[in-house]
Amino acid sequence: MKPDISRWQIAPENLQLDPHELHLWRFRIDISATAAGGLRQCLSADEISRAERFIRWQQQIKFVAARYGLRRILAGYLQCSPASIVLAYSEQGKPSLNEKHQSDIKFNLSHSGDWATLAVTAGSDVGVDVEGVINRNHLEQLGDYAFDDAEKRLFADYSAARQRRGFYRLWTAKEARLKMIGVGLSDLRSSYSPGFLHLFPVAKKYLAALAADTDVHKISRYHCWFGEDQ
Ligand SMILES: CC(C)(COP(=O)(O)OP(=O)(O)OC[C@H]1O[C@@H](n2cnc3c(N)ncnc32)[C@H](O)[C@@H]1OP(=O)(O)O)[C@@H](O)C(=O)NCCC(=O)NCCS
Repeated sequence: MKPDISRWQIAPENLQLDPHELHLWRFRIDISATAAGGLRQCLSADEISRAERFIRWQQQIKFVAARYGLRRILAGYLQCSPASIVLAYSEQGKPSLNEKHQSDIKFNLSHSGDWATLAVTAGSDVGVDVEGVINRNHLEQLGDYAFDDAEKRLFADYSAARQRRGFYRLWTAKEARLKMIGVGLSDLRSSYSPGFLHLFPVAKKYLAALAADTDVHKISRYHCWFGEDQ
């Protein structure tokens, strides 16, 4: 069954999630250093020290913007402040809500280039991956690493542009699936299995995939912005 998918829209004040519903969020993370300085106050001490470990300041800003966005959106479901959210981490680094929140909400975040996307469910495991589509000349080597022979044959006869699209669709689908399970990229070759999967553009030249462990009947898509021009 194909899910009912909304257009990207402004979220309502009162966020409600049904068991077979999924909320997809997108927001830009290419904010100014001034805006990032303000948002950083809402991050935890470990997030701030992670941000400070990025050598390039643009990466620091994007990390801060993505973590702030995550906190701000989750705060809307939990009716609390972004700073009061406590995250827990699996052994392989997958973040979730700390049990102190007593919430069924599950989520997964992905960021690439100027954009972040966040998937939120009422209890289903979820994984999301966004990638900026660029004309990489090492796609073939990446494909050798990530895809098996049958997968490579899927788009072997296509034109270069269609091959690139095929590459990104398969790559994001596999990574979303891995992130749903919570394992790392090292399992890329072995992990592909069917399940709920939805491919979608986040913005021009940004392709994403979403994987969930239960059937999703409805996807509501929300757009938000946390920079100073809000
Ligand atoms: C998880 C992973 C696939 C993400 O790859 P990526 O394409 O660089 O990044 P994305 O933007 O799509 O996703 C990153 C986000 O996924 C989440 N994430 C981190 N680890 C995750 C995991 N194991 N499973 C699912 N999601 C994870 C985080 O929110 C992270 O963003 P943030 O830390 O900046 O908030 C990759 O980092 C990986 O392979 N990690 C290795 C996991 C591992 O083996 N860890 C060893 C112990 S720490």
